[in-house]
Amino acid sequence: MNIAAMLRERFLTALAPLAGDAAELSAMVRPTQDPRFGDYQANCAMSLAKRLKRPPREVAEEIARGLDISDMCQPPEIAGPGFINLRLRDDWLSQQLNAAARDERAGVAGVNSPRTFVVDYSSPNVAKPMHVGHIRSTVIGDAICRTLRFLGHRVISDNHLGDWGTQFGMIIYGYKHFVDADAFQQHPVQELSRLYKLVHGLTDYFECLRDVPRLEARAGDKLAEVERIRAAEKPDAAALKRCQRQLSEANEKLQETRDKIGAVESSPVLSRLAAEHPQIEQAVLDETAKLHNGDAENRRLWSEFLPHCRVEIQRLYDRLDVTFDVEHGESFYEEQLPSVVEDFLQRGLARESEGAICVFLDGFESPMLIRKKDGAFLYATSDLATIRYRVEQWNPDAILYVVDHRQSEHFGKLFAAARLWGYDKIELAHVSFGTILGENGRPYKTRSGDTVGLEGLLDEAVRRAYRVICENEAAKGLSEASNEEQRRHISESVGIAALKYADLSQNRSSDYEFSYDKMLALTGNTATYLQYSYARVQGIFLKGNVEAETLRTSSARIELQAADERRLGLKLLEFGQALDEVLIDYRPSALTAYLFDLTQTFFNFYESCPVLKADNEVTRSSRLLLCDLTARVIRQGLQLLGIRVVDRM
Ligand code: ARG
Repeated sequence: MNIAAMLRERFLTALAPLAGDAAELSAMVRPTQDPRFGDYQANCAMSLAKRLKRPPREVAEEIARGLDISDMCQPPEIAGPGFINLRLRDDWLSQQLNAAARDERAGVAGVNSPRTFVVDYSSPNVAKPMHVGHIRSTVIGDAICRTLRFLGHRVISDNHLGDWGTQFGMIIYGYKHFVDADAFQQHPVQELSRLYKLVHGLTDYFECLRDVPRLEARAGDKLAEVERIRAAEKPDAAALKRCQRQLSEANEKLQETRDKIGAVESSPVLSRLAAEHPQIEQAVLDETAKLHNGDAENRRLWSEFLPHCRVEIQRLYDRLDVTFDVEHGESFYEEQLPSVVEDFLQRGLARESEGAICVFLDGFESPMLIRKKDGAFLYATSDLATIRYRVEQWNPDAILYVVDHRQSEHFGKLFAAARLWGYDKIELAHVSFGTILGENGRPYKTRSGDTVGLEGLLDEAVRRAYRVICENEAAKGLSEASNEEQRRHISESVGIAALKYADLSQNRSSDYEFSYDKMLALTGNTATYLQYSYARVQGIFLKGNVEAETLRTSSARIELQAADERRLGLKLLEFGQALDEVLIDYRPSALTAYLFDLTQTFFNFYESCPVLKADNEVTRSSRLLLCDLTARVIRQGLQLLGIRVVDRM
């Protein structure tokens, strides 16, 4: 059920004889902002009238005359300069609602022509601990997969693990020089992660040492610039402000870099290791190259480490309730890379430039490299091989890449190259997202400047959820308190839900500020609020001693009488529309916005329309059916976001 889509279709028929671009015009049917203007409104008459050079109201009337909607709507009304206002018929609404109330899918039908989607998401570089940045791709990708599936599309979710990169060079080097054999025996994952951090810290140290002079120069330049602006007769306030900000950023970066150097130099162990391994950066690259070139020892270590790395990330996926159909990492495509380059060369799509093999693409300044001078293949080469494989394997209509916006140039080039290569019928989409910021408006880091580990993030969210739940119970009086085990269980659901929802409810293209307090708030657009609302609706059934299941199978019917009842009914029928909107541009935030809106509409209804204490039995069961449908839509909606409801909170 998508009321807007149904109305648009009717408009399409009415507009076809009047305009060539009837599809575009019919898309102008929208829900109204103000219920005084009906439920839906179309403003297409105004655009059309301008072109036809006719009075818009006259055009509106002509469109309205051609509209065949009497089964759904009351006669259309023309308002203002030529709006066509539509009010759905109450009997039609009730009929749809009664069907939805008894439908397992809450009235949402599957699509008529399913498409095949490969969704590439999460895709962390393994062998380093997962961090806060990984949550976005993981939860957005998961929500998109769930929504696509629910609507009947075929989905292959693919975790394109980075399991072949420099990070393996780091742990191989670390293992060869610094391993604590006993620790590795006992806790291989922890030991590998320690080795990764150690080697990364050392390579970072040398990089920082090299960076300092440049950073000092930049801070110096900025300071000079600030002074120059200040010294001017009439200092330019805006420029001064901008420049001061750049100066403080430059100073911060410099300080950060010096702190990292300081951390190594003030530690006797680290400074000794740094002195003993001055060539560590090159050595790490060499270990990686040896791995890629088939060195037996490095391959053996790699295949020993990989399963441990997978166990590590699997624990997080389990907690996040995320699964994949396939997990072909980059290493899976390793043997296919030479043939990709050969194929591009043979077809004349790539050529050599300064020893490297490049694909030159229209609209891009620099070419896409697919083989380096030293013979090494690149990220782009493996992504091309991946496209070829996916097409051969699943023949998808679309491949979605849920990846950080910083990779948009990579995907721009990749898609252009793939089209040249012949994959020009598939929808290739980079579903990109912004950065998670701390409360200071900068990328979210720990106090010491490290990235925030994903596991720690989950733990903290759960810990805080526990506090919220205890406080909530205390506020309600002890009689309702759950036992400790229940409370722990609920905290895990509520904490992780809050984290996911905070992410999903953002416009994915923008950066957003991370705040535990906001995400766990009991009011506002949060998972906690929705879960709590769901539990409250369940509470109505508990209190009234009503079995929802029995009610659904009874002959009770939804009858819309009060205005708030009608509003809730209409909102419930907009569920399908919200799901369609998610898929227009792959934005789960369309669903969170809908669920929040629905919940608020529900509470307006609940405040003004007594349910258990309704005047008579017919009204009581009608309202209970509305409550039940609301609960099921919230539950289903949250489930599509990868969030579980709890029956009590
Ligand atoms: N492993 C990459 C990273 O962490 C993301 C991979 C995304 N998927 C892809 N097919 N390139 O940056």
